Amino acid sequence: MRVFSGILYWFMGKKVAILGSTGSIGRNALQVIDALRPDYEVVALSAHNNADLLAAQVRRFNPRYAAITDDAKYAQFKDALSGFDGQLLSGAEALVELASLDEADIVVCAVVGAAGLPAALAAAQAGKTLAIANKEPLVIAGELLMEAARQSGAVLLPIDSEHSAVFQAMQAGRPEEVARIILTASGGPFRKTPTEQMNNATIQQALAHPTWTMGPKITIDSGTMMNKALEVIEAVRLFGMPAEKIDVLIHPESVVHSMVEFIDGSVIAQLGTPDMKVPIQYALTWPKRMKGIAKGLRLHQLGQLNFEPPDLERFKALAMGFEVARMSGSAPVVFNAANEAAVAAFLDGRIRFGQIIELIDRCLQAHAVQAHLTLGELLSIDAWARRHVADALVRQTAAG
Ligand SMILES: NC(=O)c1ccc[n+]([C@@H]2O[C@H](COP(=O)([O-])OP(=O)(O)OC[C@H]3O[C@@H](n4cnc5c(N)ncnc54)[C@H](OP(=O)(O)O)[C@@H]3O)[C@@H](O)[C@H]2O)c1
Repeated sequence: MRVFSGILYWFMGKKVAILGSTGSIGRNALQVIDALRPDYEVVALSAHNNADLLAAQVRRFNPRYAAITDDAKYAQFKDALSGFDGQLLSGAEALVELASLDEADIVVCAVVGAAGLPAALAAAQAGKTLAIANKEPLVIAGELLMEAARQSGAVLLPIDSEHSAVFQAMQAGRPEEVARIILTASGGPFRKTPTEQMNNATIQQALAHPTWTMGPKITIDSGTMMNKALEVIEAVRLFGMPAEKIDVLIHPESVVHSMVEFIDGSVIAQLGTPDMKVPIQYALTWPKRMKGIAKGLRLHQLGQLNFEPPDLERFKALAMGFEVARMSGSAPVVFNAANEAAVAAFLDGRIRFGQIIELIDRCLQAHAVQAHLTLGELLSIDAWARRHVADALVRQTAAG
């Protein structure tokens, strides 16, 4: 009977819920699933306020559920889908509902920021396969997420290309044989830019990533190297490695996605073109591999691959990230929330690029780190950090 239902399940295909389907990761995930049909099908989709794109995705993929988390956009969304016979939902709580649907085998968490935490936690508690791109919940509540997954039997699979690479490389040995994790970083748009020029970069310059096409928040994080700082903490959470055993290496071509060094001196790397469809597909098909739509890698066309150590003086966020990873407790919560608030202010044209790091630093200085947080405590510290940044911006405006 178990074998029969297993075969039936395989033939029926895997049902995937994509939270944040209108974003960069979400749209790539839909392309991957489109190519994997009928083995994979979409059961639920969500967006925050891009009602038109979400409605177009619903018409194309015909999921049973679709949610728009910004209540103000619900009427427009509903109108755009009159005649749709699935269920339409709205509000932040709808995301939690989608994450724990009985019909969903895999939940792709592609929401940006801490807003994805309740849904990621719900998927982990519901025992789903959680394919997680949304790094911020792992940074701020990694222990809670991993514990929820341990208790429910949920499987957490990283979509972040570096962590997918580490996860794949880890399979070449046993966890106790790992000596260090080496996360690669493109260096972002300001790798060679003098500090003064970088601090005064325009929004357009900061959004021009040399190798990856991504959503605005993570692109700004790549410019400050906050993204790599968050990824160091993400690696600590996902792989249970101390920060001391994690290195960052600048690799401008973004072809070696990360490496694992084992105790015998072997270094196993995962390579590929810089295309998020590869790690997304791996998270969907794991432990199998299936024919993909991403372009293969032809190393001879690149000629050479370059590596250099990161400049921790110029990219202070990365130095702070290592320190925050060592402090743990509430420090990553403040680090992440202050960054989200500061990046939003930069994208609104309210602060200079260089002020992002200054605001995060001041917020961390004003916080006394606490250990062993409940979800409620964690969320109130997150809210405190956002208020702290908002107050600093009000004072700045008042001072002219
Ligand atoms: N992009 C990449 O290549 C990449 C690579 C590695 C990791 N990641 C991580 O993946 C996550 C998504 O990144 P992205 O670049 O795809 O971001 P993005 O393009 O900005 O997309 C974010 C998605 O989340 C939705 N969303 C925004 N705010 C929300 C809220 N408050 N509540 C619920 N949904 C909300 C957006 O809906 P609307 O479209 O309606 O606003 C959109 O569907 C981030 O955590 C990022 O760090 C991304």
